[in-house]
Amino acid sequence: MTTRAATSSVTVRVPAKVNLALRVGPTDGDGYHALATVFHAIGLYDEVTVRPADRLSLTVSGPQAELVPTDRSNLAWRAAERMMHTYDQLCGVMPRGPVAVHIDKAIPVAGGMAGGSADAAATLLAVNHLWGDELMPGDLRTFAAELGSDVPFALEGGTALGTGRGDEVSPALSRGELHWVVAHGFEGLSTPAVYREFDRLNAPDHRTDLLPEAEPPTELLQALAAGDPAVVARHLENDLQEATLSLRPDLRAVLDAGRELGALSGIVSGSGPSIAFLTADHESAIDLSIGLAALREAPEVAVASGPVPGARVVSG
Ligand code: C5P
Repeated sequence: MTTRAATSSVTVRVPAKVNLALRVGPTDGDGYHALATVFHAIGLYDEVTVRPADRLSLTVSGPQAELVPTDRSNLAWRAAERMMHTYDQLCGVMPRGPVAVHIDKAIPVAGGMAGGSADAAATLLAVNHLWGDELMPGDLRTFAAELGSDVPFALEGGTALGTGRGDEVSPALSRGELHWVVAHGFEGLSTPAVYREFDRLNAPDHRTDLLPEAEPPTELLQALAAGDPAVVARHLENDLQEATLSLRPDLRAVLDAGRELGALSGIVSGSGPSIAFLTADHESAIDLSIGLAALREAPEVAVASGPVPGARVVSG
């Protein structure tokens, strides 16, 4: 394959995720928890564009752009760096130059919807495409897992079981579409802080290595395969929810409001603070979003359905 001309750019679209189940087990030697989780990609997207440049740079646009770091603390920066430093060694090709990365952001920032991980996955895919798609999907998955636990799923999308740290992803059978309303725009929460609170609540003696094993959520997986949203709703679960609500008790009112307004179920997304409500169909999702917006319980409300594919090249 050929490398794209020096002036060209590549844009990748990448979705947000919600965790339909998130079971948290014991920690490993690095302090990471073993997870059994069901990821579900929904149609809220960031777009990442990369182009050749004199030096590595990162810019961000979108409603919450000012909340996004534009230095090495951004996973997308590290994804680009990883590609620049090892691509030529892996592919046996000439070293490639730096890239300018631009993120057009619609996924809530620090919202528990893996927006930062999505941008990292999109950057890996976009840079690989810019440079001629020399890396195999397996190499990209390895880089993704090194960058963060949620990055491999962002490459795949769909509905998938995540084990290990959440980075071991295998597709899950799911029938039909699920219709969601996402309440977001709350002040961001740090994922490590939520896990620390989980440990405080669940392992008071600090023996997080002795927490019960996280088993795959069999009933939820069966409900997804059958495709009845009402049954799926009964099996949504999140072990981190109690910790998130302990840090942010105000979110309880949002959960209550969504349920009172007709959601089949509501759940904190990942480590939060975004909240995902499952509804019966698209019309119910629109009605719920209007109701929630009128109540002003959440700064922002979005309607999205899933599953959708993971990171995909849309131009370039
Ligand atoms: O892997 P990632 O960088 O996304 O994880 C962010 C933080 O979340 C980790 O530093 C850790 O505190 C916590 N975490 C965890 N167990 C996991 C995944 C994340 O404790 N399986």
